[in-house]
Parts: sequence; structure tokens; C-alpha cells
Amino acid sequence: MRIRAAVLEEFAKPLVVQEVELAEPGPKEVLVRLVACGVCHTDMYTASGVDPSGYAPTVLGHEGAGVVERCGRDVTLLKDGDHVVTLFSPQCGECIHCASPLTNLCLAIREQQNLGYLPDGTTRLSLDGEPLRHFMGTSTFAEYTVMPEIALARIDPQAPLDRACLFACGLSTGLGAAIKTAAVREGSTCVVFGAGMVGLGAVAGARLRGAERIVCVDMSPERLELARGQGATDVMLGGDETVAKVLEMTDGFGADYTFEATGNVAVMRQAVEAVRMGWGLCTVCGVAGRGETLDIVPRLLITGRRVCGSSFGGLKGREDVPELIRRYMGGEIDVDPFISHRISLDEVNRGFELMEAQDGIRSVIEL
Ligand code: CU
Ligand code: ZN
Repeated sequence: MRIRAAVLEEFAKPLVVQEVELAEPGPKEVLVRLVACGVCHTDMYTASGVDPSGYAPTVLGHEGAGVVERCGRDVTLLKDGDHVVTLFSPQCGECIHCASPLTNLCLAIREQQNLGYLPDGTTRLSLDGEPLRHFMGTSTFAEYTVMPEIALARIDPQAPLDRACLFACGLSTGLGAAIKTAAVREGSTCVVFGAGMVGLGAVAGARLRGAERIVCVDMSPERLELARGQGATDVMLGGDETVAKVLEMTDGFGADYTFEATGNVAVMRQAVEAVRMGWGLCTVCGVAGRGETLDIVPRLLITGRRVCGSSFGGLKGREDVPELIRRYMGGEIDVDPFISHRISLDEVNRGFELMEAQDGIRSVIEL
């Protein structure tokens, strides 16, 4: 079928919104009619050409939500009409990682997905007869997409899809980091570095876990205001003094938990140094540039501080994303303040410009 999609034809050039060809879903694949899609940093990072693992031509987008239009052969997990959130981090339920409660990094389709192919090593997308790759296995800057059934989370059909799409990446990453990876204890003190989508999600997650004190650090007063709305009890502008200020607020010890959501390795270092001896846990959610390293004084670790990373908030997508959306529908998570702009697919490049200008948290494409 012919669909409209935003194609990254060449790195560092605007996306070209045009008609492309989408083939029928193969075995264990599903055709999804996309309703909404967030514009995320990773899309822009790939479009810029700076990411050495990026590829083109491809249809970008990975924060999608929509409705199952048609199921391929042998699909057992979904049926026509199901409402779904796309998962760049799938859950096959069978690999050794899916079988373990300790990780969410499903191994089933990783290699092909990283190369931009569906699990059988081919693409369903093409332009003038030439294959177009599937970005992050999702390619949601489009009217329709074909995805493996293990990479779709079935959600409450009552949930508005223009909000649900945010649970496909940034928001879930932050919520999961606090709720699942760190499993913040009640009454604890948390410091969140960065008040973008991921950091704000971590603030909300810390609140849901019953943290007593939640400090958010960012360079933008407007974003810090949003952090207050998500449950931050204290906010501060970031700078060289941040660690000293956190120590001062915590009787010289540091926080029980810190979360790093900027991807800046200097900030990561602050997040490690701001966590307390004995049991402090620093969770790194931000993605640093390739080749960058994080400096840690080993003494900090021997005295009981721990550092861990979190990819997609440690969430097992097909189980945990529907649960987060249940909590959203129950009024526990306030999603509306994250949606700063609503744009059409044709305005996708404006979504990148707004992000570059740090204007708002999320632009949502309505399809
Ligand atoms: Cu993302
Ligand atoms: Zn798996």
C-alpha cells in the first residue's frame, strides 16, 4: 500500500515527507495505523548523521501509538482493532533475558533491528523500488507501519493515543528508571539531573514510589516549574556548585538516589558524586555520545555508592507499558504538561527545530 512517511534520505538534511510503499505484514508481523507519534532526541540525533550507527535512507520515528489494522500469519499476541504502543525495546518472552527478572534487554530481534531490518532481514518499506530501512524497528513518522508482534504493547483502548505515544520512549524511560531500575524506597531523597522528558518521568516515578524529597536540577527555570508539577519538592539551576548544594541539603551525605537524564558525562559525574556513601544508587538514563567516558573516583564506590544504567527504564515493554498506562488512566501520572506542541506529519522538521531550540518538552505528531 501507498502511505505517507517522513524519510531521512540524507544525513543532516531535512526529512522528506512523501509517499512510500509499505508491504503486507509477514508472519508474526502486524500492520499498525499510527494515530500519534512523539518527536524524540534519538530521531534528531540519527538525522544529524552524528550517530555512527545511524543509517539512511530510513523512515524515522519511534514514539508511536495506533491501532492494529491487520495481522500477518501466526500472530497470536494481537488482533485487529487492538490499541498499541510501539516498542523499540521488544519483549519476546522466550529469550534468556526475557526469562530473567533482572533485565529488559530482549535478545530476539536485536541484530536485525540495529541494522534497520525486520527480524527476517528484509524491509517492508520501499521508495521507487529501493528498500527503506525501519528505524529502531518502529518507523513511526508515517501513517502506517509494519512491526513484529513482540514489539507492540496492547493498551487500554480508552487511553487517548496522543498521550499514550509518550509511553513509547521518554516518559516510560524516566518512570521506569525510578520505579523499576532503582526501585526507589519510600521516604528517600532523590535528585534528578535534567528536566526533559526522561528526567520529568523520573521525578514522577520517584513520587509514585513515595520519595520524601525530590530535587530536580536543570538549566531552564521553565522546565524546573514543570518538575514541580510532577512532584519535585526542590528545584535548582545546574552548575559547578550542584554537588556541594546537594551535600548541604542532605547533612553532608548526599542523596539516596540520583538519576542522570542529560547524556552529558560531566553531569553524570555530578550524579555519581551527589549520591550518599553506604547505599546511594546513581542511575544513568542519559545516552552519552559514542567514545565518551565517565570519570569516577574509585573511592566513591568502595564506600558503598553504586552506579547502574537503565535502558527504557528497565521495563519489559509488553507487560510494563500497559501497566503504566493503567496508572495514567487512574490519575496517578499527569501527561498533558509534557505535550508542548501538536504538529502534522508535514511539520516534522519543525518538531526538530523546536527540540533544538529547547522549546517545550515534546512535540506530538497527529496522524
Ligand atoms: Cu526516544
Ligand atoms: Zn526476549
